[in-house]
Amino acid sequence: MQLTKEQENMLSGGDGVVRERMMRLLVRLGEIYGASEMIPVSSVQVAGVSYKSIKDPGLDFLADLADNGAKVVVPTFLNPAGIDIEAWRELGFPEKFAIKQIKILDSFKAMGIVPSASCTPYLAGLLPRFGEHIAWSESSAVSFSNSVIGARTNREGGPSALAAAICGVTPNYGLHLDENRFATHLIEVNAGLHSTSDYAALGFKIGSIVKDGKPFFSGIKGGTTDHFKALGAAMAASGAVALYHVEGITPEAGLQDISGLEKITVTKKDLKDAYCEATTADSVDAIIVGCPHASLREISHIAGIVKGNKLNKPLWVCTSRAVLGTARQMGVAGVIEDAGGKLIADTCMVVAPLEDFPFKNVGVDSGKAAKYMPGFCKKGVVMRSIDELLREALE
Ligand code: F3S
Repeated sequence: MQLTKEQENMLSGGDGVVRERMMRLLVRLGEIYGASEMIPVSSVQVAGVSYKSIKDPGLDFLADLADNGAKVVVPTFLNPAGIDIEAWRELGFPEKFAIKQIKILDSFKAMGIVPSASCTPYLAGLLPRFGEHIAWSESSAVSFSNSVIGARTNREGGPSALAAAICGVTPNYGLHLDENRFATHLIEVNAGLHSTSDYAALGFKIGSIVKDGKPFFSGIKGGTTDHFKALGAAMAASGAVALYHVEGITPEAGLQDISGLEKITVTKKDLKDAYCEATTADSVDAIIVGCPHASLREISHIAGIVKGNKLNKPLWVCTSRAVLGTARQMGVAGVIEDAGGKLIADTCMVVAPLEDFPFKNVGVDSGKAAKYMPGFCKKGVVMRSIDELLREALE
């Protein structure tokens, strides 16, 4: 691999032991994937933040890096942690877990990383532009930035993202290259998509078929950023989709040659089947939404439904701290809290120690949450639209 003088210097230890270790990791990764050079990245999003995911070995690894003076050189945000950093006590998160989680966050902060723990950094202050090379980790954020924004990132692991943040570069392979951004499957959507969960159900189905392919959707009319974050999250969970295109909507859709692609047609019945497949329980003890982290529009929508009513079961709305702050300023957070719901920042239903909370079955509107909660959190799942879930909780 061709390295610049500066990169050679990092690799040979001229820039300290931490950069040497991190550069070695990036060079090895580049060799595995046949990269010919490193490219600068303008931002990084690091996964592997929750103590639930990385446990003591991860905590020690990060503390060691921080103690050895590791510092990031580009704007770097975090994936969700395992607790709400400010309200974990009142929300009932286990103290032992929280103490470990806080240590992890302290190590990241010592490295100069913004402790904005969210899978929607693009809604919380880290918004790349079209064509920008970045190194992001969380699968739904990767999908959104590649597909909806047209930035370029591979699906980084926690260590490779951290190495990119510390060295400011990443190996030039995979989705950084034009030739790897072309569609592999044509998805003809012959079904109306009426809610965020309909997009999630579509993603749940297509991800399981195309695996790590790059679907090109035709037949989708309109759609909001919330819809597309749900679609991408579900496809990244049921498959490993890191880039998709939507005809007439996403920025690289017009560059695709779709003639000759394998065609998959999605009907109303397919969507219904996807909801059934994602659902593993027949009752809901608690509703947990915000996967990916809820936007202001989604929080306002929930507030509009519950306003002036009382919920008959727990409702958690997971979001980023930045969005929560705005939701508080607008008064919509207060409306949800008055109805008995909770807004939870910095964490989510999958990476929080949800198994320690007493609900058996959880209602979700997300294909990704539906995919992961039974395994990671030992909870049954009912997948429905947020409107349906709330309607039942207000009866
Ligand atoms: Fe985000 Fe957690 Fe879902 S990281 S995409 S809210 S599983």
